[in-house]
Amino acid sequence: MFRTRRLRATGNIRRLVRETKLSIDDFIYPLFIEEGKNISKEIVSMPGIKRYSLDKIDAELAEVVALNIPAVLLFGIPAKKDDSGTETWNDAGIIQKAIRHIKQKHPDLYVITDVCFCEYTSHGHCGIIHDNDVDNDATLPNIAKQVISHVKAGADMVAPSGMMDGTIETIREALDANGFYNTPIMAYAVKYSSAFYGPFRDAADSAPTFGDRRTYQMDPANRREAMIEASYDDIEGADILMVKPALSYLDIIRDTKENTEKPVACYNVSGEYAMIKAAAQNGWIDGERVMMESLLSMKRAGADIIISYFAKEVAKVLTKK
Ligand code: PBG
Repeated sequence: MFRTRRLRATGNIRRLVRETKLSIDDFIYPLFIEEGKNISKEIVSMPGIKRYSLDKIDAELAEVVALNIPAVLLFGIPAKKDDSGTETWNDAGIIQKAIRHIKQKHPDLYVITDVCFCEYTSHGHCGIIHDNDVDNDATLPNIAKQVISHVKAGADMVAPSGMMDGTIETIREALDANGFYNTPIMAYAVKYSSAFYGPFRDAADSAPTFGDRRTYQMDPANRREAMIEASYDDIEGADILMVKPALSYLDIIRDTKENTEKPVACYNVSGEYAMIKAAAQNGWIDGERVMMESLLSMKRAGADIIISYFAKEVAKVLTKK
């Protein structure tokens, strides 16, 4: 008889044949940093995740470093917004200040910045608005300005999330022209127009005030188009290709992995986090096991890197074992 159960008989034989493992080396932890003072505010739909002002962030940073998490991804919540999101390229802006603060305390912690406008524009869209839509080409120069300002402040890597065409080429040219040849780009290469971003938009005050993001983010129904997105970013010079969200897009993570030799990242987004937390708080699921299983599925699908609000908890689970 064919017997597949032979290699499942004990814990140790299962360890020997285990194909996929989670390691804290693969995780990036997102941080929300708000302009102002004395802010340490829990995000209601994301239990355990807070918005911090810089004077309140040191304990969180120390914990991330102590848990051996290699990198953080920064999101800023500015004090003032305007039509084009000019605060994004203000050298004294919240993200620029945050980068300098983190690098001064923890020079080895790898700092990645989310490059976008939605938290900084009065309308909540990811660029300049013309005729009720985001103007792709008018937005590109502002992306370049934002990136240079982040890197001048000390960012190690930039991660553009706005889904404008030509973003990676624009950024690569701007970085190189300014001498930043060695700064890598992690492209939000395949980013779907997803309802799973709901809690993030509360967290970052970035919901659009009119319309939605379907003219720039991808249609969740499309798989082949994702490979067009990923290959353009690949050719334009992205160093890492990211798929977002993760859990409902494991097929896309696998496709991306098979279409590039570059590292593939996925973003385990706010809604994925919120669902597990809510069910666990109700006692309906074992939160820790569902967390580990869902993150494992992302690795099994092909993700080399996982951006996750669970990163600190994962580190604790992995060191417990
Ligand atoms: C855009 C951005 C978003 C997320 C990361 N970068 C939101 C959006 O596109 O509306 C979502 C992250 C998450 O849901 O965890 N700056």
